[in-house]
Amino acid sequence: MRAGVFDSGVGGLTVLKSLVDHNLFDEIIYFGDTARVPYGPKDKNTIIRYSLEALEFFKNFDIDILITACNSVSAYAIQEMQEVAPFPVVGVIEPGVMAVTKRIDPDSLILIIGTNATINSKRYQKMLQKHGYNNLIAKPTPLFVPLVEEEIFSGEILEATMRHYFGDLKPDAVILGCTHFPLIQDAIKSYFHHKTTLIHSGEAIVEHLEQRGLAKPSTTTPTLKFFASENPEKLKKIAQKWLKS
Ligand code: DGL
Repeated sequence: MRAGVFDSGVGGLTVLKSLVDHNLFDEIIYFGDTARVPYGPKDKNTIIRYSLEALEFFKNFDIDILITACNSVSAYAIQEMQEVAPFPVVGVIEPGVMAVTKRIDPDSLILIIGTNATINSKRYQKMLQKHGYNNLIAKPTPLFVPLVEEEIFSGEILEATMRHYFGDLKPDAVILGCTHFPLIQDAIKSYFHHKTTLIHSGEAIVEHLEQRGLAKPSTTTPTLKFFASENPEKLKKIAQKWLKS
């Protein structure tokens, strides 16, 4: 099977890594819209427009499925993409919510973090409420995105940013509702003293694809092809580093 992975930039490599680690496809075409990242501060119409343009790009490949690694795209544009795509389009929000329902008790306090687009769309909140989760705190935490892009995965600046956003919150679970956040999951976990369950979009989507029969593990590591709307060489270099870690 051949899959497409779409992200606003390099962040979706965290989702790609989960797919690769589980050998889920024979070939994966990754496209990052690096010329127009970040999507998180943009409005719904802009995110839909950019996502539909990316969809056109993927029509050049004979893909069996398109995965939108980007939470901001999954929050605002998934339906519009599904309506016109000639292949199934799967976002990361529903898989994230399903991962919660399997692991977390409905009375638990759940903290949802993501970009402004993801949090303001209320997609996670509404879906979780439908499943009986009402003890929710949803917080945009956009400063984590540039920190991760600067490869600040620990240390003082990250600690101060976590203090700024989290204060003395004590959630039972945190939904890492942004492609970048798995790269600082160790720091987030230790901020909450290791008791908190973290929900990671990449791991959630692997579970979702396997359960729905949308992907089968292959016997070999998938072949990867990288494309970017700006500086594809930089994306490839980051991919080499992040996919190894
Ligand atoms: N990929 C985005 C997301 O998961 C984060 C970066 C951006 O704002 O474009 O929401």
